[in-house]
Amino acid sequence: MKKLLTIFTTAALLGSTMVMAAQQSSVVQADIDAFQNYFKKRFPNLSLNDFSKGPYAMSEDKKLQFDAIMEFPPFEDLRDKGEALWKKPFKNGKTYSSCFSGADKTIRTQFPRWNAKTGKVETLEGEILKCRVKNGERKIGSGKGKLAWISAYLTTIAKGQVINVIVPEGDEKALAAYNAGKKEFYAKRGQLNLSCANCHIDSPGQRIRGNTLSPALGQITHFPVWRGKWAKKKGDGFGTIQRRYGGCNKQVRAKPRKRQRDAYNNLEFFHTAMSNGLEISGTEYRE
Ligand code: HEC
Repeated sequence: MKKLLTIFTTAALLGSTMVMAAQQSSVVQADIDAFQNYFKKRFPNLSLNDFSKGPYAMSEDKKLQFDAIMEFPPFEDLRDKGEALWKKPFKNGKTYSSCFSGADKTIRTQFPRWNAKTGKVETLEGEILKCRVKNGERKIGSGKGKLAWISAYLTTIAKGQVINVIVPEGDEKALAAYNAGKKEFYAKRGQLNLSCANCHIDSPGQRIRGNTLSPALGQITHFPVWRGKWAKKKGDGFGTIQRRYGGCNKQVRAKPRKRQRDAYNNLEFFHTAMSNGLEISGTEYRE
């Protein structure tokens, strides 16, 4: 009898943890399948993880150049600075990791995530910024510099972790945030009247002003990136995914959104979910 009871309680416990782990919304899963199948069909020679190489997955020559640069990445010292910052205690003695849960290498793929309490999407960079404020540290920039170095460190140690953004089944608010992000991705905008999808779904592999367009699938596996173009301008070359969104908005002469606010956070939620199942490839170089 006692044994039977234990079996019973164990089963009940297992049952309750299964309920706790949120299920992916079936609507979202259908979107992900359609999105990924489109790219697989269009580029049958690429494996799922190949897509994360973006423009370099579109051309052998470019891939060779990329590999050569990645042998001695020009951003190593900054990424090391990011690691040092991550580990350095705040004035109150705590560190960044006190604001996060799980092993450090798992942090990158915990985001973006839905927070049912606040009714908002949380991003990795947003949580790093909040962590500083919570611990009485001064604010830092939201698109490059220290924030990007720290995030680049977390992305590097997350290499091989699998992206798995969950829009919880049955949570209408979460689905609304996801849909807002999806709309942001497919809406035409700017003087050129082009959507993200026009360039990164309809035209990957095509050249535009000296650049080869990357497929939208796998676009987030390696962010923050270090770009030659950003290094030439003000800054040190590093930029977050939301800095990149801003750059792409400017390309079509649309006004970028504010970083770490709903519009871009929801876009990041949608955009990252579309790459569910791909591995984080670590911080990378881009042109
Ligand atoms: C006029 C075409 C165009 C539009 C519209 C556009 N982009 Fe881009 N995007 C580019 C080009 C060119 C690059 C640089 C080459 C590449 O990686 O595709 C780029 C790069 C990117 C990258 C970096 C990929 C990487 O691996 O480094 C991301 C992410 C991105 N775009 C997202 C978006 C999003 C999200 C939108 C909509 C808000 C958008 N883009 C709209 C042209 C466009």
